[in-house]
Amino acid sequence: MQSKNKARVLIVDDEEIVRASCRKLLQPHGYRVSEAENAGSALKLMETTCFDLVLSDLKLPDASGIELLKDIKEACPNTEVILVTGYGTVSTAVEAMKLGAYDYVEKPFRPEELVSLAGRAIERKSLREENIRLKKELSAQYIKNIVGTSKAMEKVFRLIGTVAPTVSTVLITGESGTGKELVARAVHYNSPRRDRPFVVIDCGTLAGELIESELFGHKRGSFTGAVTDKKGLIEEAEGGTLFLDEIGNLPLPLQSKLLRVLQEKEYRPVGDKKPSKVDTRFITATNKDLPAMVKAGTFREDLFYRLDIFPIHVPPLRERREDIPLLAYHFLKKYSDELGKEIKSISAEAMRILSSCRWPGNIRELENTIQRAILLADNATIKPETLGFLTLSHTEQIPRNIEELKEIKKDLREKSIEEVEKVFTAEALKRNEWNISRAASDVGMQRSNFHALIKKHGISRPK
Ligand SMILES: Nc1ncnc2c1ncn2[C@@H]1O[C@H](COP(=O)(O)OP(=O)(O)OP(=O)(O)O)[C@@H](O)[C@H]1O
Ligand SMILES: [Mg+2]
Repeated sequence: MQSKNKARVLIVDDEEIVRASCRKLLQPHGYRVSEAENAGSALKLMETTCFDLVLSDLKLPDASGIELLKDIKEACPNTEVILVTGYGTVSTAVEAMKLGAYDYVEKPFRPEELVSLAGRAIERKSLREENIRLKKELSAQYIKNIVGTSKAMEKVFRLIGTVAPTVSTVLITGESGTGKELVARAVHYNSPRRDRPFVVIDCGTLAGELIESELFGHKRGSFTGAVTDKKGLIEEAEGGTLFLDEIGNLPLPLQSKLLRVLQEKEYRPVGDKKPSKVDTRFITATNKDLPAMVKAGTFREDLFYRLDIFPIHVPPLRERREDIPLLAYHFLKKYSDELGKEIKSISAEAMRILSSCRWPGNIRELENTIQRAILLADNATIKPETLGFLTLSHTEQIPRNIEELKEIKKDLREKSIEEVEKVFTAEALKRNEWNISRAASDVGMQRSNFHALIKKHGISRPK
């Protein structure tokens, strides 16, 4: 917050003695005080200096205080204005407040009165500015929360930036744990609706009728158990954003109702005769293949096109591996602070393991892995041993030849090595119709060595 003793005050009055006495009152409080004898010179000064407060007489030689106020609010909307009024001009002063003046003070005023009023006006200005700054920071934060520098994520950031200022419906697709909800929040908090609510409904968790009354609200007595009127989430999110998560799970009858809401911008609470207007932005997300659902007849085609106006696809983590180190360190910092452990780094070998995993659960899985590793780590660094709990299901590829197997073995602990070796052998046999000689030559091994692996892991051809 701006410190009070740096605040700039401009006194506008044609009488020098009035200006001087105001200056004498305010300066000891640390304000930097300037003076102007009429509206013209006040505005001139304001071209070069940003004042926190203008204290102006209501009657000036070249304009009224009201006119000056209008000019000030146009030029520097954040500057607070206090008008000094003479006897009998209170009604004008009230009008001035409607036009955005902070307050007025009647002449003759008590010195303390002026000082305390000026103090409050300046405080309001800095609070307001602080508020704006915090809100800006919050929106920036929402984009900042999404870690990623890969091309794929840059594209996502660009799309968020394009669609956020509009009211367009957005469809966010991507596998589970890729960050769809984070993207939805970023769209909301970077939109002009950021001060209004962001409401989430998970279409997958509620039964059909419940979603309907959750979404649209209901009138008292519209069904058993509806003992009072209830606001629906569309109304809760009025002026803001409603995030319909797992939209692929929305039952067909509700899909038609939602389509009507989107088309007509109206909805009807359960049991209500009158429709209500909608002023809510809709963002939807799914990890399902909606076009396939459309083909299968489980998702309405018309609703799909309506939602797909602005799609944002969040790619799986394995398609943007370059983000893994950044994300891993992001979670390392977050959770070592939270868990009160001083884990500072991830060794190069451990990072290689993390970078080669398949991450079927995407970022959520990486996040959980780092959390677990922090809990297990016994010194400041996460090492391959700390990641011993990762199994083959996490590793990206089944090695296709002995060189790849050697490469992968370097990164894995014993238990996982065994597992990889076993799958490697079985897969090679499968690829070669269980012909041992061909499989051995396929992976670049001597038949006898390859045979030893088959025996070691007890692999036999399935019946
Ligand atoms: N790019 C990212 N940067 C930092 N954290 C992320 C990122 N993407 C996702 N996360 C984190 O991963 C977790 C999962 O993200 P989110 O809930 O947004 O995924 P989702 O796609 O909605 O998953 P689901 O389909 O399972 O609901 C959250 O804790 C989120 O904060
Ligand atoms: Mg989600």
